[in-house]
Amino acid sequence: TWMHRPEPDYSRLVWEEANRFRVHTSAYTDPTVFAAEMKHIFQKTWVYVGHESQIPESGNFITSYIGNQPVIVVRDEERQIHVLVNRCVHRGAVVCREGGGRASEFNCPYHGWVYGLDGKLLAVSERKDAGGYDDAFDAPEGLFKVPRVERYRGLIFASFNPAVQPLVPYLGRAKQFIDRKLNFSPEGEIVLSSKPFVVRYPGNWKFQAENIVDGYHFMHTHKGFVQLQMKYGDSTGDFGVHKGGTPKAMRALRFRGAAWRCENGHGLIEKPLGEVDSLFEGEFGDYQRALHDTYGEEEFSFMAGKLSGSIFPNLGLIHNQIRVWRPIAHNMTEVAVYPYELKGAPDAFNEGMLRSQERFYGPAGHGAADDVDIFIRNQQGLEASAVDWLILERGLSTDAPDAGSRDLRGGSTSEAPQRAIWSEWKRLMSAGADQKPSSCPSSTGAHDATQEGHH
Ligand code: FES
Ligand code: FE
Repeated sequence: TWMHRPEPDYSRLVWEEANRFRVHTSAYTDPTVFAAEMKHIFQKTWVYVGHESQIPESGNFITSYIGNQPVIVVRDEERQIHVLVNRCVHRGAVVCREGGGRASEFNCPYHGWVYGLDGKLLAVSERKDAGGYDDAFDAPEGLFKVPRVERYRGLIFASFNPAVQPLVPYLGRAKQFIDRKLNFSPEGEIVLSSKPFVVRYPGNWKFQAENIVDGYHFMHTHKGFVQLQMKYGDSTGDFGVHKGGTPKAMRALRFRGAAWRCENGHGLIEKPLGEVDSLFEGEFGDYQRALHDTYGEEEFSFMAGKLSGSIFPNLGLIHNQIRVWRPIAHNMTEVAVYPYELKGAPDAFNEGMLRSQERFYGPAGHGAADDVDIFIRNQQGLEASAVDWLILERGLSTDAPDAGSRDLRGGSTSEAPQRAIWSEWKRLMSAGADQKPSSCPSSTGAHDATQEGHH
């Protein structure tokens, strides 16, 4: 940067001891913390930028963000995917203003400079007219190309950090989680075919990251939904709420399964289906039986159960949707919800999943409105700076390592997933502090120290 200022020690905002896990209010309310997050988190790690099904053909593009930096995700003539910073090299205007589409080149709206699908500057408009940009002009190459782009099963991630570790090890246990979701398609693929449903709320981005894996809030935040469902039922049986259900029975369902605190900031909740046989009857029996036979009983019970994940820092998968949150300011966030279709699944099955999403997550549903209302109230409450710390200790003493991994497994309403987010937040925010040597004891020096494990 043009000016060097020593950075505060952000690691002090997460207070972690054996029986204590607290986060300081200013991690949500301080604009300078937000600016540091853009630099130390969103420029350092993998960030989800889009899905391959949104750009199936050469020339297809979508616009997206890496933190607060606008990017274009585009498939070129050789079908290669590029992630380009959406900022004209001339005077900085956003080159592409569309959400997506098909193009053969990108034309800056300000003075008309032209870029190829790989970001290369192809033409400077009116270059020689009336003493314009002459031969001595040292023209830049083109749009800034984000150095690392990797995909996993259609999900496209990009990183500004050339030394970021490969995507699959970064995903860790979240890879298995993504597999379980996507394998419910007979072809192993999902399709995002619609424009997203977008909500903007005046609150911090981490509220959404935390909430998508918060097994603790459901009965309280969504009380109205729960009461209606207990009275009238839900034709899909989703959310474990059945007509005539009792609060006690619901609680039993709610506490099934596990919540995970995974490496690299990913938090997961998995609730395998206890009894799968009923799925093999009726209209979708053959379809689900075939999946069962392909993957086996145990794996199928996970696939058919409830799975939600917060993939650090900006991607969520829940129900049949991809959810992406975009930080705009410390107190402003945009959430885009893309319902996806399971490729090869019966149309009526995809339709049923869409209907059930509309009922809960859609613009007229309960869930989205309930949660957003809480995010707003959360930000409001945190403005009361007389109180310093927030508490994230549910399950702290009982979350246990899983054999063969460094991930921690807790009860399904444990705050383990939230601790995953904050642990990675702390690691990146402190590892990024310019002048500090790496505090990471497991660093091998093989690649960027900020990307090493943290336990
Ligand atoms: Fe793009 Fe001038 S800012 S052409
Ligand atoms: Fe919710």
